[in-house]
Amino acid sequence: MTNLETLVALAKRRGFIYPGSEIYGGLAGTWDYGHYGLALKNNLKNLWWQRFVTGREDIYGVDAAILMNQKVWQASGHTEKFSEIFQTQIGTGDDAAITYLRPETAQGMFVNFKNTVDSFHPTLPFGIAQIGKAFRNEIAPRDFLFRAREFEQMEIEYFVKPADWEKFFEYWRGEMLGWMRDIGLTSDKIHELEVPENDRAHYSKRTIDFEFDFPFGRKELCGLAYRTDFDLQNHRQASTVDLSYYNEETKERFVPHVIEPTFGLDRIILAVLTSAYTEDELGGEKRVFLKLKSELAPIKVAVFPLLKNKPELIAKARTVFNSLKAPTLGRDPDRSVGAITFDDNGNIGKRYRRQDEIGTPYCVTIDFQTLDDDTVTVRARDTGAQERVAVGELVDKIQNKK
Ligand code: GAP
Repeated sequence: MTNLETLVALAKRRGFIYPGSEIYGGLAGTWDYGHYGLALKNNLKNLWWQRFVTGREDIYGVDAAILMNQKVWQASGHTEKFSEIFQTQIGTGDDAAITYLRPETAQGMFVNFKNTVDSFHPTLPFGIAQIGKAFRNEIAPRDFLFRAREFEQMEIEYFVKPADWEKFFEYWRGEMLGWMRDIGLTSDKIHELEVPENDRAHYSKRTIDFEFDFPFGRKELCGLAYRTDFDLQNHRQASTVDLSYYNEETKERFVPHVIEPTFGLDRIILAVLTSAYTEDELGGEKRVFLKLKSELAPIKVAVFPLLKNKPELIAKARTVFNSLKAPTLGRDPDRSVGAITFDDNGNIGKRYRRQDEIGTPYCVTIDFQTLDDDTVTVRARDTGAQERVAVGELVDKIQNKK
């Protein structure tokens, strides 16, 4: 495992993550995602959304406003129990009203419980999912993305019959581990911690933290909580809006209980980078590469002309690049190789090293032999192995290797 400084330096050098407001000396607890960090983040969000929302029939998405009526935070208990809240004001002068930047996305789902039921008439169990920013006025932000003041969460509130909570708690435990496996976090680095009562959040009757072996030690990555009917009951009382659920079959009316799988996206990114960071020796030289799963890699294929000053090589490389890029642009999604880049900057060794550090699974080099026989060199990131492939077979080759 690498140390944190090495990871922070790589993330900056390769355009993944920069310190927030850096030219002014930074702003503690804030980080800006660059071109490749954003691609990695979007890939993770998409995989999460595919697995938990579009890939299922029982979970509905929502994208609630970050600013919420301050009564939400009074009813949820955050005003009283949660000290890291970011106060802000709505309006100006004497008419200004206090509210808070949300410390969790969860409340945006509870206040839309009734809307979701009225729009979609789901039967229990069902869930609401949201990906979005959360803010906490952490006293000591530290450890890169781990403890920030502005970060992103991916949360599900899963509504169940009160008697079923244990069954679904176990179910979500497995689902969370399954998704972490999907993105390449191996089980030897993930440890479950049963959170004792005095350490649990005010709304939780049971919490499991999934801890990860970060470079700075074993720390919480994500969590699973049994929130009972705490939130819906409190919002029901405070808003006087009926937030119960009516079961048509059994003719029962009750307030559902909630199982909450919650993922901090930035911590997931830090865990993915920690896991992917690899050092080895290739051709007698030390090298660093990100062993990212292909689905997560910001760039799937980099196309290189062997030399920059040979117009015929550049022209051929552009043709190959465009032929790979065309499906990516949506003309034929089944033939897509995903995001690709053209790189003619520096000698070929430097270009390989750059793409290795970005985590690009394949580099395709166009050389003089290409002009004769229409074949290119395909080089695999993890092994450094190279093979000759006909240009016409490139998409198949890359897709099969994904
Ligand atoms: N809705 C439940 C909730 O917010 P939490 O354990 O306080 O629970 C959920 O936060 C996840 O959000 C954590 O497991 C972590 O991944 C992430 N998280 C919390 N505080 C964070 C911070 N200051 N910086 C980065 N991520 C944070």
